[in-house]
Amino acid sequence: MQPENLAYALTQVVHNFGAAALIGASVFWLWPAPRRDHARTFAWAILAAWSAQIASGILFGLTSLYYYGETPDLSAVAMTALVIKVCSAAAGFLLGAWFLARGRDWSLGDVKRVFQTQFALAGLALTGAAFLRWFS
Ligand code: HEM
Repeated sequence: MQPENLAYALTQVVHNFGAAALIGASVFWLWPAPRRDHARTFAWAILAAWSAQIASGILFGLTSLYYYGETPDLSAVAMTALVIKVCSAAAGFLLGAWFLARGRDWSLGDVKRVFQTQFALAGLALTGAAFLRWFS
């Protein structure tokens, strides 16, 4: 067993479950009907998932640096996809932190828009992941 493959695989486990948690937490709060009472619990789960994505994304790069002394040489499409993923993760993390810090009195409609945006950002990052994977 090659240690770098194990490092990539374990990082990917965190990354995959983080992606599933982002979609799952936003959908389960929004569907079948948004409820004010559990919003913060789900928002914390989403914030934790964005943190996991950012940390594991960075770990992918660090693993490449450690084992190969460089990060992968990305095509223009793959680099664009990576930038889209990083921007989605940064925006999702900041939105989640903002809602948790300031959103206690926001209307249900506003909270709904926060979760819809989180879902859209997660979808955008997942779409970027497919292009990053196949254009690398
Ligand atoms: C700072 C943010 C992120 C960074 C730096 C990052 C980086 C990476 C890297 C380097 C890979 C491996 C690419 C390859 O196999 O060629 C990867 C794979 C992946 N990422 Fe991310 N990622 C980030 C955020 C996200 C987010 C927010 C999601 C989903 C919501 C996501 C979903 C995925 C998925 C599903 C894969 C596997 C793709 C596949 O192999 O088919 N990533 N990511």
